[in-house]
Amino acid sequence: MATGMQRVPGPRYKHIVDEEAPYATLTVDKLTPIIGAEIGGIDLSQPLSNKAADEIHRALAENLVIFFRDQHLTEEQHLAFGRMFGDLHIHPAAPHAPDHPELMIIHADRNSPRANGEGWHSDVSCDEAPPMGSILYIKTCPPKGGDTLFANMYAAYDALSDRMKQYLEGLTAVHDGEDNYRGTYANFGVKDRPVYPRAEHPVIRIHPVTKRKALFVNRGFTRYIVGLPRDESDGILRYLYEHMAHPLFQCRFRWRENSLAFWDNRCAQHRAMWDYWPHTRSGFRVTVQGDKPY
Ligand code: SIN
Repeated sequence: MATGMQRVPGPRYKHIVDEEAPYATLTVDKLTPIIGAEIGGIDLSQPLSNKAADEIHRALAENLVIFFRDQHLTEEQHLAFGRMFGDLHIHPAAPHAPDHPELMIIHADRNSPRANGEGWHSDVSCDEAPPMGSILYIKTCPPKGGDTLFANMYAAYDALSDRMKQYLEGLTAVHDGEDNYRGTYANFGVKDRPVYPRAEHPVIRIHPVTKRKALFVNRGFTRYIVGLPRDESDGILRYLYEHMAHPLFQCRFRWRENSLAFWDNRCAQHRAMWDYWPHTRSGFRVTVQGDKPY
């Protein structure tokens, strides 16, 4: 007699791909069935109609990260695009463009001691109300490399066992910016603040737009799960980080100059590859304010 788990057709995690209604103002070309889509037919330097803005919102909700190619934006146009989705966030530590505190500098070159976002994270999850989304515009690319990986945290949640989902339900975790930020931007001449943000958030959050559950802990900022012995919290977080980094939940974006990525920090994590030293990769990020997770 067979022992162990009963085999049913298909992979353990099944992502159901629905037939989608067509878009009127954009083209949407999915990178994978699970996460990521390239958007075409739109020039972000021009004022967007309400319909186009709604469809960008919809494409983000459906794909978690969306990519635009061959965009030619001034700093003001990049900021204006971000403002269509909410108030803009000012990063608690990173350097910014001289006249625009909301325009975060993303830059690595031969002299850099590090590059931004090299580990899996959700942007500034240590804030009480972490950013809803981030809009990265890369103007200078290395000849090869510098890709960004994105991972779907709904899919990571859905693929957990029912026992694990029950265990995590109602737990909260502490997210802290201290280790990430202190001294990190000294090479840009940034002076440290006396304290960096720290906040407690649910381990499983409900996305305010889609109402779907997503795993909301990340290697970059989450320090421990509240109310558990520290060794148990460390073990659970280690398992979740390994689980959520499964390639099945991911896409990988290859940048070209003048590409723009818009990701939803509430349900996606990302990780940047610094595999291009001594070349330069450079651009700006506009970050849109979010709500307190629930
Ligand atoms: C980040 O915003 O975390 C950096 C992402 C990237 O440079 O690709």
